[in-house]
Amino acid sequence: MANSDTISKRIQAMNERVNQIKDGGMYFYNQSISELRGGSRALVNGREMGMYASYSYLGLVGHPKINDAAMNAIKKYGTGTHGVRTLAGSLPIHEELESTIAEFKQAEAAITYTSGYVTNLTVVSALVGRGDYVISDKLNHASIVDGCLMSGAKFLRFNHNDMEALENRLRQVPPGSSILVVSDAVFSMDGDIVDLPRMVELCKKYHAWLMIDEAHSLGVLGARGRGIEEHFGMEGAIDIKMGTLSKTIPSVGGYVAAKRDLIGYLRHSSRAYIFSAALPPGQAAAAKAAFEVILDETWRVEKLKNNTQLFITGLKDLGFDTMLTETAVVPVLCGEDDVAYAMTREAQRNGVFVLPVVSPAVPQGLARLRATVTAAHDSNDIEVAMDVLSEAGKRTGVLI
Ligand SMILES: Cc1ncc(COP(=O)(O)O)c(C=O)c1O
Repeated sequence: MANSDTISKRIQAMNERVNQIKDGGMYFYNQSISELRGGSRALVNGREMGMYASYSYLGLVGHPKINDAAMNAIKKYGTGTHGVRTLAGSLPIHEELESTIAEFKQAEAAITYTSGYVTNLTVVSALVGRGDYVISDKLNHASIVDGCLMSGAKFLRFNHNDMEALENRLRQVPPGSSILVVSDAVFSMDGDIVDLPRMVELCKKYHAWLMIDEAHSLGVLGARGRGIEEHFGMEGAIDIKMGTLSKTIPSVGGYVAAKRDLIGYLRHSSRAYIFSAALPPGQAAAAKAAFEVILDETWRVEKLKNNTQLFITGLKDLGFDTMLTETAVVPVLCGEDDVAYAMTREAQRNGVFVLPVVSPAVPQGLARLRATVTAAHDSNDIEVAMDVLSEAGKRTGVLI
């Protein structure tokens, strides 16, 4: 193929950008993490660092009960399934996991898929199609955006967490149309929480279905870590409660918890369920055990909340802009992309593993470190991280 076709140009442009960043010593992605030491520390390229880029919010990676559950399931069933659930791949552990999720999320039923990404794609596109409307927050995760595009429904977006803007969009929809409103519960790049009370009110007023992605709120929000409904005391307010099994839950996969008839519909019409293999038994068993551990070890949710408070207040006291976060996802605003890269280099050089998020993942000028804090950290870890970040901030001009 000639080098002038669009595909070749696209490949070349991306690789040139990556090489340029690598040549400047500012490429921090895809590093080898050979050990996760208790969740608060990690061996990165053979060097131990404080881990501030983990999604294991409750520090459950490597938990002995969860590891045992996975190993026992492998001993019992092996590592794979026979195929898709509908045909030959459904195991008792899948049903047990779905009942556990339904109970944890206080829903009638649940369905699981093999990733959170695929859950959003398949669920949004199973619920809405041509002639329907899907309305999405501008900062929603890429998997939601892709699901909306794939669905073929009319795709409307509203300004981030702006309920007036949402109402304007709802007013735009012709009467009698089916509407799905979809949002992250906790926004993955900013850490702020969706205004659920107002969103639910608007959905009721305009007869819209509401789908909320709890990737970063499961185990994080609510007194027992049950998520955003528990946080706001609004149990039963969300029609479609989506989440992943790859963050707080140390496995892989995605789920939806909802009314029984909706789950039955998804089991027979969502393409990732019908045309893709089931979750491996070891991962399903690990996920089930993790939900049980969250309810047994309630101190983890409490500790995460305390650490989050310490981390955010510490950064603000140093003079950093942490935007509107109230959760374990903590942006540290740097401004231009190269400043975020320089901050990362300084932090990693001094043993704090954080990563930069730059354009186009976030708007130009809003590049940041995206730090995460977990229940695995202790107050001493956080103090050390503050010292390192403070020094990095001064050296790069983020702090004056
Ligand atoms: C808000 C949100 N939804 C969905 C996903 C996709 O989940 P998974 O990694 O399980 O595919 C992510 C992952 O980063 C996310 O942040």
